[in-house]
Amino acid sequence: MSVSDRNPQYHCPLRDKFINIGEADFLVVSKQAKADLPKPGEPVAQANIVFHRALEEEMDDILEVCNYFWDETEFFCFDQTFDVTKCVNILALAEGEVAGFLSHKKVDDAVVIVALNVYPEFQGQGIARLLLKEVTEQAHKQECNTLKLATSNDDLPALCLYQKLGFRITDVKVGAVAKHHGGDLKGFGGIPIRDEIRLEKKI
Ligand SMILES: CC(C)(COP(=O)(O)OP(=O)(O)OC[C@H]1O[C@@H](n2cnc3c(N)ncnc32)[C@H](O)[C@@H]1OP(=O)(O)O)[C@@H](O)C(=O)NCCC(=O)NCCS
Repeated sequence: MSVSDRNPQYHCPLRDKFINIGEADFLVVSKQAKADLPKPGEPVAQANIVFHRALEEEMDDILEVCNYFWDETEFFCFDQTFDVTKCVNILALAEGEVAGFLSHKKVDDAVVIVALNVYPEFQGQGIARLLLKEVTEQAHKQECNTLKLATSNDDLPALCLYQKLGFRITDVKVGAVAKHHGGDLKGFGGIPIRDEIRLEKKI
């Protein structure tokens, strides 16, 4: 998994500006202060955020989100390459507009989350949380009781999200991401992207 540095991926509430991962940095704030900061975009009422399995004709939307964030539509994790066009994709629509998506695939007795992205203007509204709730329901329907995902060592917002939602780090493949890309790329805040962090949640 590599990262596109072309496009803004986050919102800086201090400058009220969209920023790419090279411009991003971490700041420790109190939860109370965080609640007072500007949000990325207009909040969308929960009732106007809907999720559905992407239809064949919506595949272009899925590929567009992948290319926006990653410059690729195939993701290497758990020692294999996942092509999103061959995965199940859940699309999040906010007032009819594509807000993000989650791609997943059943592998043995677990559901692997292959990709999860929310466009910056829709971030901070719980859409990623809801997409993860949706995949949990779909995993239950497939009689799977384990969700698995992998992220890279630099992706601190993602590590925060997953651990807050109950995922546990189960393995670290040291150097796996750098090896896959033939060297270190710069990731969130300029942190070298090197290691594949594997996480799991029993559901
Ligand atoms: C990570 C990402 C999917 C989160 O989407 P989102 O819809 O904004 O997330 P939510 O609003 O559901 O946030 C849920 C929790 O995630 C964490 N989180 C989300 N964005 C964060 C950020 N920028 N910084 C720190 N924590 C963050 C918070 O703990 C948040 O909980 P809170 O509401 O109690 O603060 C989105 O920022 C994104 O697409 N990022 C770029 C691509 C990426 O890294 N994807 C994951 C690859 S493994």
